[in-house]
Parts: sequence; C-alpha cells; structure tokens
Amino acid sequence: MKEIFGNLLGLKSSQIKRLENLGRRRVPPQAIISYELCRDLCRLSAEIGRQIGLLIERSGKIARVLAGEVDRIVIPDLREYRLAPDRLRGLRCVHTHLTDTPLTQDDLTDLSLLRLDLMAVVTMEASGIPDKIHWAHILPGEKEGLPYQIMTPVPPFRPEVGCADLIQALEAELTRKKRDDKSTAAERALLVSVFTGTRKDAMESLDELKELARTADIHTIDTILQKRKKPDPRFLMGRGKLDELAISALHQGASLIVFDQELNPSQIRSIADRIEIKVIDRTQLILDIFALRAKSREGKLQVELAQLKYILPRLVTKDTALSRLTGGIGGRGPGETKLEINRRRARDRIRQLEKAVAIVQKNRGQQRSRRNKKGLPVISIIGYTNAGKSTLLNQLTQSRVLAEDKLFATLDPSSRRLRFPQDVEVIITDTVGFIRNLPAALMAAFKATLEELESADLLLHVIDISNPRHPEQIRAVENILDELNLSSIPTIRVLNKMDRIDPPGREILVRRLNGVAISALNRPSLKPLSRQMQDAVADFL
Ligand code: GTP
Repeated sequence: MKEIFGNLLGLKSSQIKRLENLGRRRVPPQAIISYELCRDLCRLSAEIGRQIGLLIERSGKIARVLAGEVDRIVIPDLREYRLAPDRLRGLRCVHTHLTDTPLTQDDLTDLSLLRLDLMAVVTMEASGIPDKIHWAHILPGEKEGLPYQIMTPVPPFRPEVGCADLIQALEAELTRKKRDDKSTAAERALLVSVFTGTRKDAMESLDELKELARTADIHTIDTILQKRKKPDPRFLMGRGKLDELAISALHQGASLIVFDQELNPSQIRSIADRIEIKVIDRTQLILDIFALRAKSREGKLQVELAQLKYILPRLVTKDTALSRLTGGIGGRGPGETKLEINRRRARDRIRQLEKAVAIVQKNRGQQRSRRNKKGLPVISIIGYTNAGKSTLLNQLTQSRVLAEDKLFATLDPSSRRLRFPQDVEVIITDTVGFIRNLPAALMAAFKATLEELESADLLLHVIDISNPRHPEQIRAVENILDELNLSSIPTIRVLNKMDRIDPPGREILVRRLNGVAISALNRPSLKPLSRQMQDAVADFL
C-alpha cells in the first residue's frame, strides 16, 4: 500500500491510521465503491473536514488514498499507469464532497485529461451520512460535443452499476474507432498555431506545417488556430485552452501535438508537465525530418548537433518529461546515437560532434578544391523544398537520387557529372530544400551544406509553379541566397511541374517570371533548359 497522497497536516495519528486502513479495503469490480467503504469514507471525511479520494484499480484494489482540502482534491502524477490512445487509465477516482455539490468542472476535466475509467463524487449530509453517488465516464464519441457523459446519480446502498462491463465496453469502442482509422502513419497529430498576426498568414504557415508533418510520416487529424494579443509566457496559449487542447487530443486518439510556433525551454517544460501526450514544435519537426533523411556523415553529424543544441536547454531533470521530449518524433537520432541522454552527456556529445564536423568540413574543403582544379564548371540545383530538384538531377544525369513527394527529401548535397552533347562536362549538385522561416538554429547548422554553393558557377533555381504559393517560395529562396551572399551567381529560374498548368497559363508564367518551363518528370521537356545551361556554361569556358 502506497503512502497517502495529499494534505495530512494537523490530522491526529489515529485519523491517519484510519486513512491508511481505507487503502487496504477492496471494492467489488462491478461497483463504483462498496456501501461500507462509502459510509466509512464519508464519516472520516466529515470528521476531518476534508475531501477524501480513492484511486481504485479495475481489480477492486485501492491504488492510492488521497487526502484533500475542504473544497478540492489533487490527483497525483499517474504516469506509472501507462496510457495508450485506445485505452483508459485503468483507475477510477471516487471522492467525497463535504456539501451536496455534484461533479464539478474540475472533476470532469480530470476525468477527461487523465482518461480515468470513471469519476465519482459522493455527496453527504453534514453528519457524514452518504447521500448520493454522482458519476461520469469518458465518451468515445464524436469530435464535437462533450468528451464525457454524466450518468444518473445512484444511492450509496446501490453502487453496483456494472462498472467492469461498462469499462470493457468503452475500451472496445475506443479500439474499434482506432481500427476504423485507415491511416498507417506512425503518429497521429493535432497541429496547433497560436498566432498574433493575421489569420491568413497563420493558416498558410499551418498548411506548410501539415506538409512537413506528412514528410515525417505523421498523420494530421486536426488543426487548431488560436489568436491571442500576445503569447502566454508559460503555456503559449491560455491554461484553460491548453487543457481543452489536451482533452481534444486524447479524445481524438492523437499521439502527438505539434505547435507551429517555437516553444521556449520553459514553455515546453510547463506544457510537458501538464499534458501527457508528446509535444513538439516546428523546429523539432524539421530537425526530425533532417534526422530521417540525412545520409552522408556530415549530414548526420550536423543534424545530431542541431538536435542536441536545440534539446539541451529543454531537458528537464524528470525522466518522464525527458523521454517525451526525445522519444520518437521530435528526437529521432540521425545515426548510431539515441537521444535518450542527460544534460552532461549531451554537452560532452556536442563537443565531440563539433570536432567531428570541423574535420569533415576540412576534408570537404580539400575535395572541393581538388575538384575545382580539374576546372569543371559547377552547376548547383537549388529551390524550395519539394520543388523537384532531385527529380531534375535524376533526369539530367539519369542517376537515382532519392526523389519523393515529401518535403526535404534531400539533405546532403549530391554531386554528379553531366556531359552535354558537345562534350562539355560539368559537375552538377543537388542541395537541401529551402524553406521560409527556417529557424535560426537550423540555418547555422546547415550553413556548411549551403556553403557548397559558394563554388557554384551557375544556379538552377527550381520552382514548383503548380504550387499556389510559389511567389513566396521564390522570395524565400532569394532571401536566403542574399543572406549567404550568393545573389551574384548567375541563376536560371526553372519553372517546374508545367504539366500541372494549362498551356495558356504556362506562357504567362514564363514571361512573368522570366524562366524556362519544364516538367522534370518528362525528359524531352528539358531540352530548352539544357540549351540555356550549355550557353551559360560556354560563357565560363
Ligand atoms: P526536397 O529534397 O524535399 O527539397 O525536394 P526536391 O525539390 O528534391 O523534390 P523532388 O525531386 O523530391 O520532387 C518532389 C515531388 O514532386 C516528387 O513527388 C516528384 O515526383 C514530384 N515532381 C517533380 N517534378 C515534377 C513535375 O515536373 N511534375 C509533377 N507533376 N511532379 C513532379
């Protein structure tokens, strides 16, 4: 029997003993509580003038006795009772109210947030005689509406409501709902944006977050937008809203919440303390995608470095929160190393990684100068993520570089040789996809990847013309080039995915954007581009 949780201050030792004895009793599995236990609970509660609660396992064993205050009770951390998306907690909570107040909003929030099997309140007369048992359970129901159902109160001498059967039926329904969900994605997420600017901007950014999620094999079950004058320093959103969000996530069987805004270390800690589902932000999601995609040694080292630097200030001493910050999405290790580590080891590892990155970069610098000594012009393919860069490289060189309809499919610059018909040879490289609002931490980490571009003689800026947001994407890429002082390199704008645009629209776009139209999937369509590339290269020779 565990010790009593809560406020024992000022209680006589005999009263504490009686509280302990309550914890040794058993409850018939089909009853909310037994009549005798209910009677003794109320008598003691009235005597000490505080609420008393019991957390009861399905077998009828009492897991915890809770000593509350006159008007409330606090439920301890229940993380040792594992929670799967299609399961309930395996514990019901029965507690007294010293007055005739039935279930309060706090009771119902606890029920939903902690996914208890049941929540019951025993009201009593002033003398400590139990009056009624008010109870409610989670509803595995619709998205809209309440996530719980309040049942008709029962008299204390008739507490057999078929608890075990009811709980079993509720779980069967939860499992059925999960089975009905056809998505095979590893995680099911709620995407949340707490914005201060315009709704339109927030929605666009959230759309992109959804794309990022898809790339990371996360199925989005819902998106939530909340406007605020300014972000809450502790929880980003208001505390009540955060509780609602957590309840809705649990109710919809989400295993992950992704915030579009960056969460600072203290916010992520406060949120992780309050919500049991894994919570990550946009930066962590991007890092996670990088981790999945990094192929070369340098790519892997840099991703791990960026992840550790991002996670380090967010590591908490509590192991549970740590594993929720680092386990799975939001902390997939790119290589050999798992990110399940403590702060000291994180710092050591960061130092090691920094050294290793410096060595790899030095080697790469040498490779680059060797290559340049051969005098081959270098063409680099750049562009917004998912624009079709890898597909273009593949078509141009008929090699196979990972090309998928997911954001950031490429992380490492891949170099290939390309021979033009007139026996002109060039080196052509693919680069990591650009993205707007790339978090500063990532910009720094990937600078080396982009530094590769410094040796480029010509840039092919691939644009997904079928994406309605291509104007912003062009601007984002050009801004990053500016930041890297690369705007002076000659650039061809390659308007890709033309097959998705009606012929009259193509002409207008080609003129407006001053580019060359292609469909990277269709080799013959690359001819005009190939000619322009040869002309440009001829200028360097
Ligand atoms: P990141 O590495 O994520 O930056 O992507 P990327 O720019 O290298 O794009 P990738 O080549 O992986 O292509 C992304 C998706 O667009 C893939 O599903 C391609 O099949 C598709 N795609 C590429 N070119 C075309 C095209 O001309 N037309 C159509 N319809 N789809 C294309």
